[in-house]
Amino acid sequence: MRNFTTVQDIGNLETALEKARYVKQNPYADSALGKNKTLLLIFFNSSLRTRLSTQKAALNLGMNVIVLDINQGAWKLETERGVVMDGDKPEHILEAIPVMGSYCDIIGVRSFARFISKEDDYSEKILNQFIRYSGKPVISMEAATRHPLQSFADLITIEEYKPVARPKVVLSWAPHPKSLPQAVPNSFVEWMKAAGYEIVITHPHGYELDPRFTEGVKIEYDQDKAFEGAHFIYGKNWSAFADPHYGKVLSTDRNWTIDSRKMDLTDNGYFMHCLPVRRNMIVTDQVIESPRSLVLPEAANRVVSAQTVIKEILLGL
Ligand code: CP
Repeated sequence: MRNFTTVQDIGNLETALEKARYVKQNPYADSALGKNKTLLLIFFNSSLRTRLSTQKAALNLGMNVIVLDINQGAWKLETERGVVMDGDKPEHILEAIPVMGSYCDIIGVRSFARFISKEDDYSEKILNQFIRYSGKPVISMEAATRHPLQSFADLITIEEYKPVARPKVVLSWAPHPKSLPQAVPNSFVEWMKAAGYEIVITHPHGYELDPRFTEGVKIEYDQDKAFEGAHFIYGKNWSAFADPHYGKVLSTDRNWTIDSRKMDLTDNGYFMHCLPVRRNMIVTDQVIESPRSLVLPEAANRVVSAQTVIKEILLGL
């Protein structure tokens, strides 16, 4: 594996899951693999889990780690070519990326959708510039359209808890006061499809995701109906994808908040969320604190997904 940005990069999912299980059981077995290798983590956006779990994964592999928050201490970066740089951005990303590449062996990048241009977001303009100009393998730590380290951790978690071979997994939109990207739901759908699970998406009208991700997936606009018989409920907010409302909040209807009554419609289903989560908007206190909530094991598995991915890249260097 050279870069890790989509489910395709991981190769055969069964094999990847086997490797992840090995990493989870033997976290320090490859502590010499990363000796004298450096992982550089670049954050254009805030993070708790990705920041810590990816560092922990690299440390388990014996790597050195450098973390840079672009908006705190680095020069502000211009990202467009052809701009007369007479404003507040003293450095261009096209110099900054190869410089960053020269200081490391692998780069992780977090760069969310900016909602300025759907075309720029959905062409993964920032992430692809890192792939093109850094000269180093690139790991997406959540880009504009996907969050593959999260989805891999979600898949690992579902495999650990699934009560049947092919579980029913429901991705449920839930309300949030601010515009959030579609990266987590897009990616989740992509990975669940690849795993061959029964996947249903439920959301209010207007929140349809990019059809390139949802092709062949059942959309159920009645949330109660979608929850019936589900083994896993994956709660998440996202903003509108379709024009002319791209990136906009169309509803904050708390009738969509995931509560105990709705969870009772499932087949003793588990609740999942990538975190951070706004309690009593997305999910009630009762549900997230219940024994059927997997949010903590899911977050813990972020180390496993990151370590499995970094290990594969190191093996290919
Ligand atoms: N789930 C996730 O990516 O969390 P952070 O934004 O805190 O990294």
